[in-house]
Amino acid sequence: MPIQIVRNDITKIKCDAIVNAANSSLLGGGGVDGAIHRAAGEKLLKECRTLGGCKTGDAKITKGYNLPCKYVIHTVGPVWNGGKFQEEEQLISCYRNSLSLAKQYKCESVAFPLISSGVYGYPKEQALYIAMNEISKFLLNNEMLVYIVVYDKDSFRISKKLIDDITEYIDECYIEAHYVGRSTRLTTYPLDECRPCASPQSSMMRDLSDVIGSIDESFSEMLLRKIDEKGMTDSQCYKKANIDRKLFSKIRSNPNYKPSKTTAIAFAIALELSLDETRDLLLKAGYALSHSNKFDIIIEFFIKRKEYNIFRINEALFEFDQVLLGQ
Ligand code: APR
Repeated sequence: MPIQIVRNDITKIKCDAIVNAANSSLLGGGGVDGAIHRAAGEKLLKECRTLGGCKTGDAKITKGYNLPCKYVIHTVGPVWNGGKFQEEEQLISCYRNSLSLAKQYKCESVAFPLISSGVYGYPKEQALYIAMNEISKFLLNNEMLVYIVVYDKDSFRISKKLIDDITEYIDECYIEAHYVGRSTRLTTYPLDECRPCASPQSSMMRDLSDVIGSIDESFSEMLLRKIDEKGMTDSQCYKKANIDRKLFSKIRSNPNYKPSKTTAIAFAIALELSLDETRDLLLKAGYALSHSNKFDIIIEFFIKRKEYNIFRINEALFEFDQVLLGQ
C-alpha cells in the first residue's frame, strides 16, 4: 500500500502534497505545471513569484490553494539529452528533494507525476523506474503513502518484449487450463510449467502430504517462520511487499488472520518464495493460483523467472489491467 500507482489527473488527488513538474522559473507552463496552476488559482503563481525560481533537481514548496491538497512541491526535472549529461542524477534528486520536503512538512501522503517524462522527453520506462526506485528506497525508512500518478496509459509502458512474453505465457496457460479442464474434469493439476504434470497421483500425494505435514501451521505462523528462515526483519518484509505496517501487525498478532489473496501473494514475492512455497503459503490462507485467472498467471510468470521486484510486477499487472499487489 505505501506505493500506489493510479491513473488520474494529479490535480484531482486528495492528499497532503502533490508534486509539480515545473520549470526553473516556477512561473507555470504546460503539461502538469499548467494543470496545477489552473486548478490552484492565481494565488499559487503569486507565491511562486516570491521563490526566486528553482534549480534543476531542487524542490520548493508552496500552499495548495484551490487544489485538494495542503501543499504543492515544485521540482524541476532534467531535459533529456541522451542520458550523458547527468540527467539520471538530476531526476533522482528531484524525487529525493521532494520526498524530504514532504517529510519536513509532515505530509502523510504525496502524489508524484512522472517528472520529465513529458515535454522534457525523459524515456518513460526509465523515468518510471527511477521514480519507483527512489520512492521505495525512501519508504524503507519512512512511513508515507506515495501515489505515482499516471496520466495516460502510454506514459506508463513496460517493455514491449516483456508484454509479449507475458501475453504468450497467458495464452499457453489459458489453453492448458481449458484443455485440462475439459478432458480431465475430476483431476485437479497443481500449477506447473503450463503442462499437465507427469502423474496426477504423485502430485496429489505431494499436496496431500504437505498439507497434512503442516496442517497445524496458520498463514501468519508460516509467514513469520519464512521471514526468520530468510533472515529478514518484519519491516524489511512488509515494506518489500508494499504492505503497510498496520496490516502487518494485524497479521502478526492474530494467528488465524486471513489476508486477501493479493496480500498473501505480495508476501510470497517479498520472501522470494518458489512456486511450491508460494502455493503452500496461499493454501494456508485458503487460496490457490489458478490458470484460469490472468492475475495468477502473471504472478506465476514472474515467480518462475525468479523476478521478485514487486514494482516491476505491478507495472505488468497495471499493463494488463489487473489489481496491483499490496493495494
Ligand atoms: N496529471 C498527472 N500527470 C500529468 C498531467 C496531469 N494533469 N498532465 C500531464 N501529466 C504527465 C505527463 O503525461 C507526463 O507523463 O506528467 C508527466 C510530466 O510531463 P510534463 O508535464 O510535460 O512535465 P516535464 O516532462 O517534466 O516537462 C516540464 O513542461 O509543463 C512544462 O513548465 C513545465 O517547462 C516545464 C516542462
